[in-house]
Amino acid sequence: MARPEVHPPKLDDALVARLRSELLAWYAGAARDLPWRRTRDPFAIWLSEVMLQQTRVEAVVGYWQRFLDALPTIEALAAADEDQVLALWSGLGYYRRARALQAAAQRVVALHGGRLPADPAALADLPGFGPYTTGAVASIAFGLAEPLVDGNVARVFARWFELELEPHGGPWRRTNWGLARALLVADQPGAWNQALMELGATVCTPRSPRCGACPVASDCRARAAGRTAELPLPPKKRAVVEVHVEALLAESPAGVLLVRRPPGGRNPGLFELPTRELAAPGRPPAGLWPGDFGTPKLEPHWEAADEASPFRHAITHHRIRVEARRVGLKPAVARRLAASSAYDLVPRERLESLPLSGLTAKIIAAF
Ligand code: ADE
Repeated sequence: MARPEVHPPKLDDALVARLRSELLAWYAGAARDLPWRRTRDPFAIWLSEVMLQQTRVEAVVGYWQRFLDALPTIEALAAADEDQVLALWSGLGYYRRARALQAAAQRVVALHGGRLPADPAALADLPGFGPYTTGAVASIAFGLAEPLVDGNVARVFARWFELELEPHGGPWRRTNWGLARALLVADQPGAWNQALMELGATVCTPRSPRCGACPVASDCRARAAGRTAELPLPPKKRAVVEVHVEALLAESPAGVLLVRRPPGGRNPGLFELPTRELAAPGRPPAGLWPGDFGTPKLEPHWEAADEASPFRHAITHHRIRVEARRVGLKPAVARRLAASSAYDLVPRERLESLPLSGLTAKIIAAF
């Protein structure tokens, strides 16, 4: 059945005034004390907003501080070795974000004297600046009256206005961005945008929203209709693909064998442990890793193997069962393998400075 056309709800002035004043007053008292809320440095704010995309606040705090300690300015980021940037990002995932961040820093140095421009159109021209990042940096770092929509904001709107919109199509986009612009508090855009996100992150949560703690519960249409559990509509699910892999922590006194992922494809340039996908009867390979440990073959060379308990790892819609083993290699064998172009031999103490895949960092920590 075709869905009815969805129009942005008509907003009455009194409702808008109530939502604004109640939510801003709530945010003034309830805002979490997050480190990027204590700075006015546009670079530090920009970095937080990029890291917060697809990553939880608790996970971001440590990464954000470490990144700024190592690369405190746009100039430092622009001039850094890409491997250092990726190493600082290691474990956050979505490494394209880190590459775009550095590319944008280089453009800012080349075009804007190393300072982020306080201009939404100029921001939107930088690599990695989609509508969300542009709105977030413009409003939070520069106090410009620019709206933003992220998953938290869209959930809040879906409940306030009882929106039945399938994410993330045209009507969803137009309605949410239209609402975000119409509701924006022009003289406090940073506080307003963050208040909306904060409500979504801490009160108007996907499951079991805490309506008793919501400052605008009496204006929430989904709550009045008893529909907070069914709105927003869920995204269409991608089918989950089960994958089974074996990974080797192949160690000698000279170091650990790593494989560098090829350019193009997933996680280009990241280092990972030799990993192979195990075939399952009747299922095509997912193709995230090859079916063997590469050439030259590792199997004939390893000695005593320790096994970690199998564990699960997720990459987008892949559910990966991982069997990891630590195997010993004689130093001469390790050096010979590393002399081929297939492997790098890296002393343990240098691992931390390399861009490792999230799965590899997890396995190394497990042994
Ligand atoms: N999520 C992403 N950025 C945020 C911010 N600045 N405040 C609250 N939640 C966020």
